[in-house]
Amino acid sequence: MARAIFPIFFLFLFALLSCSAIFEVTQADYVETQDAKLHGLKRRKLTHFRVYFHDIYSGPNPTAVAVLRPPISINSSTLFGSISMMDDPLTEGPELSSKLVGRAQGFYASAAQQQAGLLMAMNFVFLQGKYNGSTITILGRNAVFSKVREMPVIGGSGLFRFATGYAQATTYSFNLTTGDAVVEYNVYVLHY
Ligand SMILES: *[C@@H]1O[C@H](CO)[C@@H](O)[C@H](O)[C@H]1NC(C)=O
Ligand SMILES: *[C@@H]1O[C@H](CO)[C@@H](O)[C@H](O)[C@H]1NC(C)=O
Ligand SMILES: *[C@@H]1O[C@H](CO)[C@@H](O)[C@H](O)[C@H]1NC(C)=O
Repeated sequence: MARAIFPIFFLFLFALLSCSAIFEVTQADYVETQDAKLHGLKRRKLTHFRVYFHDIYSGPNPTAVAVLRPPISINSSTLFGSISMMDDPLTEGPELSSKLVGRAQGFYASAAQQQAGLLMAMNFVFLQGKYNGSTITILGRNAVFSKVREMPVIGGSGLFRFATGYAQATTYSFNLTTGDAVVEYNVYVLHY
């Protein structure tokens, strides 16, 4: 009888020990499950923005600057490998003089060898009203000579915490001599 109980006892002990190990992991001090409602995360909404993005290389106050032009890019029709940094105004209308809504800060890099295709990595920093100081982060591919380019919104801060969505860019004007461009951005963001 005692011999039969012995293995069962060890099995029981083993089960108990593994249970307490799991218990310890889920009860660790550095992590806990929280109620989303306590953080004001109740209902997701969809917000649409239309802003005009001014990428200016020319004149006394450029907003975009070439930071890398590797030798190989000189012979490349797509300037493959080159990188520009920007702090571009985002305005309500297509004229630079229209109301400043925010700025597009980040960089874009020529990531395609066959046809123009940029890797865009930028934050839209809003500067007006309740959105002042909130940001959304856009990371995606921008085939600049296509009519409509779509890029993912991969996150945000402030009023745009937990943001997901997409941006559609359409060129409004482009000066081939200077490289200056005005681009209409329609951004659709799901956030709380
Ligand atoms: C660019 O092309 C020219 C002409 O084919 C060649 O002589 C030159 O070495 C190339 N430059 C680079 C950086 O590849
Ligand atoms: C936006 O916030 C900044 C920093 O808090 C402040 O200086 C600025 O006046 C605000 N702008 C508007 C339009 O409210
Ligand atoms: C492009 O920019 C140059 C230099 O500022 C200017 O002379 C020219 O008129 C512009 N072209 C267009 C199409 O706006």
